[in-house]
Amino acid sequence: MKSKLTFLTICLFSLTLKAQYNRLWIPDTLTGKTFNLTLKDSFKQILSKGNTTTTSGINGAFWGPTLFVNKGDTVHMNVKNKLNDTTTIHWHGMHLPAVMDGGPHQVIPPNTLWQPYWKVANNAGTYWFHPHLHEMTMDQITKGLGGLLIVRDQIESALALPRTYGVDDIPLILTDRSFTSNQFKVVPYGDSMLTNGVMRAQFNAPAQVIRFRVLNAAIERSYNLGFSDGRTFYIIATDGGLVDKPVGVTRFLISPGERIEILINCAGQSGTSIDLKAYNSTVSNFIGGGENFPNGPFANALGKKDFNILNIKIGAANSKAITSIPNTLTTNQFLSAASASLTRTITFTDSAGVPNILGPNAFILGRKMFDIKYINHTVPLNNTEIWELKSSSIFAHPFHIHDVEFYLLSRNGAAVPAYEQGWKDVVLVKGKETVQFIAKFDDFADATHPFMYHCHISLHEDEGMMGQFVVTNPTNKINTLSTAAFEFKVMPVPATDRINIVCADPNEVYYITITDQLGRTKMMLPQPDLRNGIDISSLATGIYFVQLMDKATKQISIQKFIKS
Ligand code: C2O
Ligand code: CU
Ligand code: CU
Repeated sequence: MKSKLTFLTICLFSLTLKAQYNRLWIPDTLTGKTFNLTLKDSFKQILSKGNTTTTSGINGAFWGPTLFVNKGDTVHMNVKNKLNDTTTIHWHGMHLPAVMDGGPHQVIPPNTLWQPYWKVANNAGTYWFHPHLHEMTMDQITKGLGGLLIVRDQIESALALPRTYGVDDIPLILTDRSFTSNQFKVVPYGDSMLTNGVMRAQFNAPAQVIRFRVLNAAIERSYNLGFSDGRTFYIIATDGGLVDKPVGVTRFLISPGERIEILINCAGQSGTSIDLKAYNSTVSNFIGGGENFPNGPFANALGKKDFNILNIKIGAANSKAITSIPNTLTTNQFLSAASASLTRTITFTDSAGVPNILGPNAFILGRKMFDIKYINHTVPLNNTEIWELKSSSIFAHPFHIHDVEFYLLSRNGAAVPAYEQGWKDVVLVKGKETVQFIAKFDDFADATHPFMYHCHISLHEDEGMMGQFVVTNPTNKINTLSTAAFEFKVMPVPATDRINIVCADPNEVYYITITDQLGRTKMMLPQPDLRNGIDISSLATGIYFVQLMDKATKQISIQKFIKS
């Protein structure tokens, strides 16, 4: 009887143990050159008990699909906003024209189709897209808007690396959330870890080398990554692609906006299991996640604690499994400090130190709160620059810049560790630290549309810890004499599925906006390719207006058309 009872207890115990994990969700994939992304409010069962949580998702309920693109391809995005709110979608890490960037200026009103496109210039790596509407970023990211963008190229494809998405090449989107009556609280720190939107996530891995593409998509928390058996893991890529050779570490502190790709070797380990954890008990104070606030707006259950990110159950090996870590990956050509034509300093300040600007809790860059009408810096096209991030803030801020990938030159004057010697677009600048990076601002000059730089803690960004710069081409003479309206016609009349813009020089068309009779924006086409006309099949029948912006003068001309 006693042994029966014990047996029963053991069974029940193992049942509860099993029940404590949920299967890691792997986002769907989209491939090709045209991507349809629909942003919608939705709901999802995130907590195991009770009501579903109201969420927002892209082609789904929470988070979005993983987009696979090839370097060199021109990709077209059809971003349809079916939310009740205005939003933007920013292609974090992509090198593209500012007007396609999806920052706070490229607003997408509800029921609007935004159609940016660009030629993929980035190296193979893990990038992401997310909303960037000023003062609404934290709110919209909290609800679940975002997705991964994975670039492939010939160099990466030629390496013996795990590359089977969802099997041995695993995306890990890290974030945390708090709930009230099962609904998300919009707070900087959550009480529960979510890995790919799943609490207590578990993944069944084959016994071989596994690649994880880790994105910190949290609002404020950094995660001090490590494995429960203390094993070495190998960093193969930073934000902007492969590092020269794998760098073995046992901990890596990943901050909001940052990505790393890592390898772990599970060959010969079938039947065992390990945990990927955040060892945040050892993270210093004044780094997001390294603090334990007992109460107030920053209080949370995970502060300064170690907690699980992913339970990894190692099963059988796949045939043709990769069982060793490569020695070398690529040969990056980084910029040398000597090639820079100037050093630009960006100060980080606690507003408490700047009287009469802000409340006591906000942080600012360049001693100025973000102003969407103010251009903080003008960068000449093709400039190579050193940006010096000089923090007098007490807190650590993950600084992010649009347009470019940079190379870190120094932290407080000293060389950076090997695991930071790669292409990056986010760098954690710790309290009172000075960090220098170098970048080249090539390809895209546009005096009208700025790029952003900001703290990637979305709370800080929304509160104004952001600035903007334009890249300008001094040899481009803007024709200020031309005041004549841009003349064009819309054909055919009436139109069904396509309209053609008939004008003297289609290359002079900078931006097209299609509005309905009430002035509501329905489609936005930055720098449209007009050779094949414009697909208007998504519009209902009715009367519309085409607003066309001239490239040189930035003047707008309007024509009416009928869709039948
Ligand atoms: Cu990931 Cu300006 O953002
Ligand atoms: Cu970005
Ligand atoms: Cu910050």
